[in-house]
Amino acid sequence: MSFKILYASSTGHTEYIAEKLNKLIPNSKLQDVDDLEDITELNNCKTLICCIPTWNTGADEGRSGTSWDQKFEAIRSTDFSNTSVGIVGLGDSAAFSKYFCDAMEELHSSFSAAGANIIGEVSTEDYIYDDSKSVIDGMFCGLPIDEDNESEKTDDRLRNWAQQILKIS
Ligand SMILES: Cc1cc2nc3c(=O)[nH]c(=O)nc-3n(C[C@H](O)[C@H](O)[C@H](O)COP(=O)(O)O)c2cc1C
Repeated sequence: MSFKILYASSTGHTEYIAEKLNKLIPNSKLQDVDDLEDITELNNCKTLICCIPTWNTGADEGRSGTSWDQKFEAIRSTDFSNTSVGIVGLGDSAAFSKYFCDAMEELHSSFSAAGANIIGEVSTEDYIYDDSKSVIDGMFCGLPIDEDNESEKTDDRLRNWAQQILKIS
């Protein structure tokens, strides 16, 4: 299978964004991480798009507060060397400006440890925030989406990012 879009969501924003990406990426399949029994189901996918919110503000680990937090260990011990991974983070750049989309970094470090090729890094230029653990070497390690404050920017951000992913996948 080419594209699988995975998401976990507490109040529905991340699910809504994953559904939008599902429409933008032809032949992609959508799956709730809650329904994922075994991480090894995923390493036959060419490209994974992983969508994650941040809820556990400032935490060292388990920042998402969703079922993603229980998957990181299994991801690290699975071989993803034939898989490309794009990350999408949901967060609030105003109320949680020092911790903006922090959970994306846990997906990045887990899939990197598993040998995956991380794709879809995003410039920080279009965002106003104080700090984020998800900025690596000057770029966001995935696409931040802020439905709380900047929902009017979401469609363009998703469209541009999906085009970037489709070009390199
Ligand atoms: C108690 C609480 C803690 C939050 N912590 C963070 C945070 O640390 N960083 C961040 O960027 N957003 C934070 N958010 C914002 C959520 O990540 C954001 O609303 C997101 O869209 C929720 O996605 P979901 O509806 O898929 O769960 C927090 C929201 C609440 C209510």
